[in-house]
Amino acid sequence: MLKVGLVGWRGMVGSVLMERMQQEGDFKKIDATFFTTSQTGQLGPDFAGDAKPLLDASDVNELAKMDIILTCQGGDYTKAVYPGLRETGWDGYWIDAASALRMADDSIIVLDPVNLDVIKQGLEQGVKTFVGGNCTVSLMLLALGGLFEQDLIEWVSPMTYQAASGAGARNMKELIAQMGEIYSEVADKLDPASAILEVDKLVSEKIKSDSLPTDQFGVPLAGSLIPWIDVPMPSGQSKEEWKAEVEANKILGSNKQPIPVDGLCVRIGAMRCHSQAMTIKLKKDISVEEIESTLASHNEWVKVVPNEREITSKELTPVNVTGTLSIPVGRIRKLSMGPEYISAFTVGDQLLWGAAEPLRRMLRIITD
Ligand code: HSE
Repeated sequence: MLKVGLVGWRGMVGSVLMERMQQEGDFKKIDATFFTTSQTGQLGPDFAGDAKPLLDASDVNELAKMDIILTCQGGDYTKAVYPGLRETGWDGYWIDAASALRMADDSIIVLDPVNLDVIKQGLEQGVKTFVGGNCTVSLMLLALGGLFEQDLIEWVSPMTYQAASGAGARNMKELIAQMGEIYSEVADKLDPASAILEVDKLVSEKIKSDSLPTDQFGVPLAGSLIPWIDVPMPSGQSKEEWKAEVEANKILGSNKQPIPVDGLCVRIGAMRCHSQAMTIKLKKDISVEEIESTLASHNEWVKVVPNEREITSKELTPVNVTGTLSIPVGRIRKLSMGPEYISAFTVGDQLLWGAAEPLRRMLRIITD
């Protein structure tokens, strides 16, 4: 069995990954060693067999004994440890959730339902570094995989509605705290007879006051939204927006003739599901029925939701998708701009297909 070193397994993405690995029996296939950045020597978890003391995640000698290292520890850890580890001559597989190595020439962004061919070719050519994609990019490609595979997309403009989890666990807690404080302000005034403009005034004043917790987001998210995610780029894009085109084309292996993918990324008050409204320019005029069947047949997780009010309101939502691997895509219709222009809306769990699942599956591709 291959020796697999796990780093960052206790954080939010890491915990989701550990849960999935237990569900899928992955620990039976590997010889797992748990590393830590802060609790060396303490007893590790027992879900891979008997609990053993945790090893130091910065100890290059211990890391170098592994055949595979899978890290969800974050970009700072990758930048601190990866170059030195490779410099020792370590030739193992590095599987990483962080973005630090995503655009490196010698890495592959993994999303096997979409780019198994790219992954397999990379493995044959000796690629040893595999990185999970940005969550919105992976979720969009899973939803639109059929149209990309058939080379039917000329360009796509995804406008995102991104959940608090993408910013981190503390941000999720801050969102809930903000919601709670807003509610408390008017809890005794929500009877049908109360004056809504008075309630609205109190809520607005509360949101605008300095009393809401905003240490993580910097501004209120509850009752509002933030139309900017990550740092600015010279292009005027946010970094989250910049990632869409470069990462999507790297995953698809279409860097030489990149498909334009560009839109605005917005943080909203959902917990862990990212949603995206997409405007798509097709290369040719095909029927909605053909579009739907092309999308539905691409992978086992995508589910086409009919463009009808009731089922859309029930199924095409963060509430319905959270905690699942389901990738519903709906609101598919022709736009008035012309027969080649279509809309689509998709939702996906940012921690599962958006982060942990592609890494878990990459581990299985190597170990199986
Ligand atoms: N950058 C994403 C977000 C999450 O802020 O929602 C990680 O892919």
